[in-house]
Amino acid sequence: MEKGNFEIDPPVMNAACSIAKTPEDVERWRNTETGAVLVGSITMEPREGNPEPRWFAGEDYALNSFGMPNEGMEYYRRHLPDMISKTHESGKAFALSIAGFSPEEYVQLAKMADEVGVDILELNFGCPNVSESGKQKPIASFDPDTMVHIAAEIGKVTDIPQVAKLSPYSDPGKLNEVAGAIIDSENISAVATSNTFPGGVMLRDGEPVLAAGRGGVSGRSMLPIALGQVQQFRERLPENMDVIGVGGIESGEDADFYFQVGATAVQAATMAVRDGHEAINQIAGSAD
Ligand SMILES: Cc1cc2nc3c(=O)[nH]c(=O)nc-3n(C[C@H](O)[C@H](O)[C@H](O)COP(=O)(O)O)c2cc1C
Repeated sequence: MEKGNFEIDPPVMNAACSIAKTPEDVERWRNTETGAVLVGSITMEPREGNPEPRWFAGEDYALNSFGMPNEGMEYYRRHLPDMISKTHESGKAFALSIAGFSPEEYVQLAKMADEVGVDILELNFGCPNVSESGKQKPIASFDPDTMVHIAAEIGKVTDIPQVAKLSPYSDPGKLNEVAGAIIDSENISAVATSNTFPGGVMLRDGEPVLAAGRGGVSGRSMLPIALGQVQQFRERLPENMDVIGVGGIESGEDADFYFQVGATAVQAATMAVRDGHEAINQIAGSAD
């Protein structure tokens, strides 16, 4: 797979989310009409994630504070070979989303991904739902030097194409800075934008709907925001770098908006978390 040339046909896949973690999830996804299956985000150590309730589906949006529950690297080292070969049997590419809590952890996870034969490596730089001592952990998306450093370290241990999964940037200056760093990086092949918008809150009967209080905003309300991010990155990045669009997509028409502003592929999470894995066929079925 050449840099900047992802073979995802049709160019639709699931986004990293709570129903993309287990062999059963892979079984469900590989029987949909997507061109790739993504698992993750996974971490070095197993994580239970944040207390429930950690998911709320509103009318035009969702809020979540899952905090990346997953079984940890050693579980995936054992189970990924089978998940990958089944995905390949279905004629789809296999992507893994990894989330380290340090550059070294990203490298360990990437090494494991290399050993088991992952096709595309997505680096989750944007999870807003992880806290330490009651405080939100810094989001790597806002620190271009750290992102580029992590990608360079990963590049020393694997040739798997790296996708930087980014938070949405409300500051155009920061977006420019990140685009510049990614252009200079020798190792990042593509960006996927956007992760959830951090720090959202909704109340019911005077109480936050999420046990954690705040969470990431996703779903329909993210469509114009993520579409704008895709357009801005497309305008800035060289042609050989792909831009993957993610945010609020629920139909082939929504996906088409992203293709019109230059996305090479699209991902969806919220609609499938809400309606089931197979709901993604509403997008994939009309995006050949
Ligand atoms: C329940 C849930 C869990 C998510 N978990 C992750 C994750 O582990 N890693 C990640 O990069 N993004 C995660 N996301 C963000 C999605 O991949 C996606 O970027 C975002 O939700 C916008 O797309 P959507 O509107 O189609 O959901 C999660 C989203 C949801 C709704």
